[in-house]
Amino acid sequence: MDGQSFILTGQVLGFSASPFRSDPEAALTLNEAVIVRDGRIEAVGALDALLPNATDLPRIDRPGHLICPGFVDAHVHFPQTAMIASWGKRLIDWLNTYTFPEEARFGDATYAARIAARYLDLTTDAGTTTVCSFATIHPESVEAFFSEALARNQRVVTGKTCMDRNAPDNLRDSAQSAYDDSKRLLERWHGRDRLSYAITPRFSPTSTPDQLAALGALWAEYPDCLMQTHLSEQTDEIEWVRSLFPKARDYLDTYEAFGLLGGRGLYGHAIHLEPRERDRLREVGAALVHCPTSNTFIGSGLFDMAGLQAEGHRIGLATDTGGGSSFSMLRTMAAAYEVAQLRGTALHPAQLLWLATEGSAEALGFAGRIGRIAAGAEADLITLDPAASPALAQRCAQSNSVAETLFALIMLGDDRAVGDVWIAGKRRKGPA
Ligand code: GUN
Ligand code: ZN
Repeated sequence: MDGQSFILTGQVLGFSASPFRSDPEAALTLNEAVIVRDGRIEAVGALDALLPNATDLPRIDRPGHLICPGFVDAHVHFPQTAMIASWGKRLIDWLNTYTFPEEARFGDATYAARIAARYLDLTTDAGTTTVCSFATIHPESVEAFFSEALARNQRVVTGKTCMDRNAPDNLRDSAQSAYDDSKRLLERWHGRDRLSYAITPRFSPTSTPDQLAALGALWAEYPDCLMQTHLSEQTDEIEWVRSLFPKARDYLDTYEAFGLLGGRGLYGHAIHLEPRERDRLREVGAALVHCPTSNTFIGSGLFDMAGLQAEGHRIGLATDTGGGSSFSMLRTMAAAYEVAQLRGTALHPAQLLWLATEGSAEALGFAGRIGRIAAGAEADLITLDPAASPALAQRCAQSNSVAETLFALIMLGDDRAVGDVWIAGKRRKGPA
């Protein structure tokens, strides 16, 4: 990695354990400094202890600011950047009215490259350093996204979205072309620098059984790839799945029957799950991805964070841009808090931060590499300024703990609160 080297001081946040598996207040750890060398975190600890190893390094001081891992957004659609915040529809109408016409533009490689760059600019500004994105059916959209991320040395995941039914003519592939295109793309990109490929059937209503089987076979050939899709987002969608797959036991079975259930599977939304689905997802160690701004924006429902965590599920957090209404993981953590409140649980700020960093990193199979400030991890770092706006400044002035400051930043913060962003040790936002 060609990142810079420096020592950064401030309030460095970390976790001694998962705040869902232990007392969240006690799980949140605080340190004074981080040493970054050549794109990696070399050490984290007390300033006095670190300084002797940093005599050759420039020092960057952010007194009072929180220092966190870059946010990890585990489920987005970068091609929906330009149509985010589209009014008045629920899932299926929203897809047909707004989403599909926009996605149809991504056969144009120039447009795909422009939106990929715009999307990564917007999310970097909001403190997100890794995303797992759906592309469109066009290989050009995958090429555009990986090329742009490669130029920025950014850890991202994407894959060609596969659809061979219930979509407009210009957005349909076939079982064979989905297999062939996905295979060619993953052989070209998966594992190159910081890039990973996810086999991507959009959701079972837009794939025939033949296409699901072809993608299941591909995943069996390349089991170290991720597989991403949608599961049980809206009740009408679930009814539709039932009518399209009359032999399936439930929605999850439409994936399971075709080899599309596994520990490297990412299932977006997962709101209206049957007991069998919950059991199977947990047994195989699949990852569920909570998309709270999307779930309120398009009226999908309230994810059962407390129940699913208690059962031991792996859970990541995501914006679901552009069904989600924000590019910001701060706003997304706030929405996760609000959704949990509506189900009777107050998520602790340590739990919210964990979901947006380690939790999502674990969901994507990147634990230890990103999502954590620890020696040996990749130096994707951000700083959060508790005085970034007048509203934040006056609230944080009377904060009594770092957890209280973190919570105010989550609830009141936006991209102005994200002061610095480093990706693989290279500055991408903030004063040079
Ligand atoms: N289900 C299938 N496709 C999509 C999508 O693009 N966004 C959301 N939120 N749900 C989906
Ligand atoms: Zn989605």
